[in-house]
Amino acid sequence: MIDTNGRRRFLKQAAASTAFGLSLPASSVLGANDRVRLGIIGPGSRGQELIKDALKVPNVELVAMADAFTLRLEQVKQLAPGARGFNDHRRVLDMKDVDAVLVATPLHCHARHFLDTIAAGKDLYCEKTMTWSIEEAEACREAAKRSNRVVGIGLQHQSSGELADAKQWLKDGIVGKITHVETWMSRNTPRGKGQWVRQIPADCTPANVNWDAFLNGRPKRAFDANRFINWRLFWEFSGGNVTENMVHQIAWSMRALDLPVPSSAYMSGGVFSEKDGREVPDTIAVTLDFPNDLVLTWQSTFSNSRFGIGDRILGSHGTIERLAGSNDMVTGRSLSGLRYYPEKANRADGVLLEGQSKDQDHMTNFIDCVRSRKEPNAPVEIGYRSAVAAHMANLSYRQKQRVTLETAKQTAHNQPAR
Ligand SMILES: NC(=O)c1ccc[n+]([C@@H]2O[C@H](COP(=O)([O-])OP(=O)(O)OC[C@H]3O[C@@H](n4cnc5c(N)ncnc54)[C@H](O)[C@@H]3O)[C@@H](O)[C@H]2O)c1
Repeated sequence: MIDTNGRRRFLKQAAASTAFGLSLPASSVLGANDRVRLGIIGPGSRGQELIKDALKVPNVELVAMADAFTLRLEQVKQLAPGARGFNDHRRVLDMKDVDAVLVATPLHCHARHFLDTIAAGKDLYCEKTMTWSIEEAEACREAAKRSNRVVGIGLQHQSSGELADAKQWLKDGIVGKITHVETWMSRNTPRGKGQWVRQIPADCTPANVNWDAFLNGRPKRAFDANRFINWRLFWEFSGGNVTENMVHQIAWSMRALDLPVPSSAYMSGGVFSEKDGREVPDTIAVTLDFPNDLVLTWQSTFSNSRFGIGDRILGSHGTIERLAGSNDMVTGRSLSGLRYYPEKANRADGVLLEGQSKDQDHMTNFIDCVRSRKEPNAPVEIGYRSAVAAHMANLSYRQKQRVTLETAKQTAHNQPAR
């Protein structure tokens, strides 16, 4: 179902969020060793991983959770027996003893939970992609900037040692003039079993699901367990693989190269791998143009995984290559890791370099920032830029034409195909 009234509805929702947002309470200042009390909205698959990550950090407690599905609240009781559970996120935000909130709801709910959390005066960790649309990304960035809240985005590659090393090589000038960044991501599943398709739990029934909360202002429709569990497959709730995976990779390159939002985008592809009723494409080629004579391409398939995930920053003096899950064609050896290869034409004496820096734990970094009030490794600005780039690509696919930043902003809410 296509969302035609998105813009009006979102603005109404944003206004309601501000109205809901009790005035910003003076933040209780946490000392370096003070206990951080967390709440979570949407502890599903990813949210439960986040809880485990957070509870590994010393002196962190999960005190509250809200989920639209009773099963998730029961599951989290195994991880944090003392946490209070609700089926309405506002009850978590009402609690005075919540310092920071993790948001891991489906994409179309992020903006609402982001804005409500900030308005309630809590610090925020919001899963990627930061928002479902460009318009929402702008509203969230604005709200975060106006507040004194610590906001971190679930773009964990921003805490990678590979980013630190790539930035250093770029700063050292050994990559030269960069005109092209080529990136890809590939996966495979047994034939007949589409990527991302989840089994519907037996108790996923209207009695156990807050369906209105899930719809989050989308046009009313009868309860649909498939859409609730497999929201990723439908445009109304998702941005497909561009917001699920491309966003991590473009955020990594954008940060390494300090790129602004793209000036234009083109995306082609389709539902080619498994025609299982999904709306979002499984085969994708994206081209993003940046204002400073640079083009970034990303390609993705769900029908072949041989070359895993990769990012190559192609410069006149050298190449930075980041690989994960890629195998050498002949030996089958894993090629994962970060390397620098000199270009003989301009660096005859250059040598191959390997990344050395260790990853930081992304959740530990966020919790540290809640205490220190510093900016997390993945701040709202990279959440914003990567979200805008992803939505420009999707808009181009859905409109079947190249979009510029200006036209994308004018049609800011996800628009139907023409
Ligand atoms: N950073 C990463 O590597 C990474 C990995 C996986 C997923 N994610 C992101 O995490 C988010 C969640 O993905 P998932 O796979 O865990 O989905 P999921 O469906 O497993 O979990 C979402 C949870 O939100 C609940 N929910 C839905 N609407 C709600 C509402 N209005 N209020 C409260 N709860 C609500 C659902 O019941 C469910 O438990 C997505 O944005 C996804 O892109 C990030």
